[in-house]
Amino acid sequence: VNVLGPLGNGFAVEEGGRYLLVGGGIGVPPLLGYAEAFHKNTVAVLGFRSADRVILADRYQEACKEVYLCTDDGSLGRHSFVDTQVRDILEQDKTFTAVLACGPKPMLKNMAKVAAEYGVPCQVSMEERMACGIGACLGCVCQSTEVDGHSNVRNKRVCKDGPVFLATEVEL
Ligand code: FES
Repeated sequence: VNVLGPLGNGFAVEEGGRYLLVGGGIGVPPLLGYAEAFHKNTVAVLGFRSADRVILADRYQEACKEVYLCTDDGSLGRHSFVDTQVRDILEQDKTFTAVLACGPKPMLKNMAKVAAEYGVPCQVSMEERMACGIGACLGCVCQSTEVDGHSNVRNKRVCKDGPVFLATEVEL
């Protein structure tokens, strides 16, 4: 196996920040390093399809101040999508430095909406199919919310300009 990397960027975090980590399914593992780096200073909301799909919950419990589990079928934790839980958390506490979200696009879209409602900055890690991984093939572009001087929408390459973007920077 040949491996090329590291490629792209990561979440922009600062020392002493308080982060609300939101992971859905395969978006759960990429956030674990942030939970461990900010030992006991993060809150995590982790969503899975069902109890038998839950991964890394024990590692998050060790690393985070609080962990909330949600499942689509209610077989473990709260019977809801993660955005319902996030809304409840932000209702009580809007002082997070940022929401860091990784997961399927509909989840990221909901996260961006909820975070904006409560005035908390949100960073999203986008998933796209990738070929070259170095910004050359344009196979992974997503639509940017920025327009250039001619009112043309610019595209962003998820592999090179991202995969992490401010939620306000890209169309979700
Ligand atoms: Fe080729 Fe992103 S995968 S430009």
